[in-house]
Amino acid sequence: MHSALQPVGPRAELIADLMLLFFAVSAVVYVIVIAFLVWAIMRARERAVQLGPAATAQADRKSKVAVGVGAALTVLTLAGLAASDFIVGAILRQPPADPLRVLVTGHQFWWEIEYDDPVPGNRLRTANELHIPVGRPVQLIFTSRDVIHSFWIPSAMGKMDLIPGRTTNEIIQVSQPGTFTGQCAEFCGFQHSKMRLTLHARPAEEFDAWRQRQLAPAREPQTQEARRGQQVFMQSSCILCHSVQGTAAAATVAPDLTHIASRRTIAAGSLPNTPSALASWVLDPQRIKPGSRMPASRLPPDDLSALVAYLTSLQ
Ligand code: CUA
Repeated sequence: MHSALQPVGPRAELIADLMLLFFAVSAVVYVIVIAFLVWAIMRARERAVQLGPAATAQADRKSKVAVGVGAALTVLTLAGLAASDFIVGAILRQPPADPLRVLVTGHQFWWEIEYDDPVPGNRLRTANELHIPVGRPVQLIFTSRDVIHSFWIPSAMGKMDLIPGRTTNEIIQVSQPGTFTGQCAEFCGFQHSKMRLTLHARPAEEFDAWRQRQLAPAREPQTQEARRGQQVFMQSSCILCHSVQGTAAAATVAPDLTHIASRRTIAAGSLPNTPSALASWVLDPQRIKPGSRMPASRLPPDDLSALVAYLTSLQ
């Protein structure tokens, strides 16, 4: 689901209500203005026939009063809309008690998501999937590694910029379980449109279970082919950018792959997470997402299928 008009949390509802208020007021103003315009045109035709120059002075006085009243009503309407906007902004800026803290870093062209925790061993990194417990406010702390991106999950929150060298933050709160889509909303380069993410809102117990699974180090490969795939991974350029917790691969330039098989999509929502999509992505990412930072791997077919077997074992 992907619509700012179908809010799924109290904060998104507030933004949707504000939008509806602006829309309703604008619609009423539009109808009134058009009605007056039509009335004025009709009246001007009659007047042109009936009136002599003597009556013009009185008509001028009347139109001055009408313009004054119109201007005052316009100022009042705009002031009312501005006030409602400030009030909603002030409510949204209220810091909630005990939020879950999640750091979101923008990269060309994917989202790094890190769950904050006072215990370093309990911090977990994932990519392009934001999992949150239903009902609990989540404070998202944004920054960017390269250019300005904008984080937007229309059903759940407004847009927030991710700016290199600065942090911004926003609260997200969802009151019903579900999966909601999001999208980078600021042009950030060639693959801006393929910079998607999904929000998974789950009951608190399910979220905690997910978090525990994600905190575990990567599963050891169980089959012969997966074991060979792990060797291919460790000996190739993969480990220059990616990390797999519990192995020697610890780079943080690209998405953490410790539990890549648990994610629904790869390449920031560009492809379903299936073995064949994974194989074509690893072999030639530039064909699928030209301009992405991932280079082609040029692996022989045997190594590629072993590598895919390893990656799909990383539940
Ligand atoms: Cu990131 Cu557009």
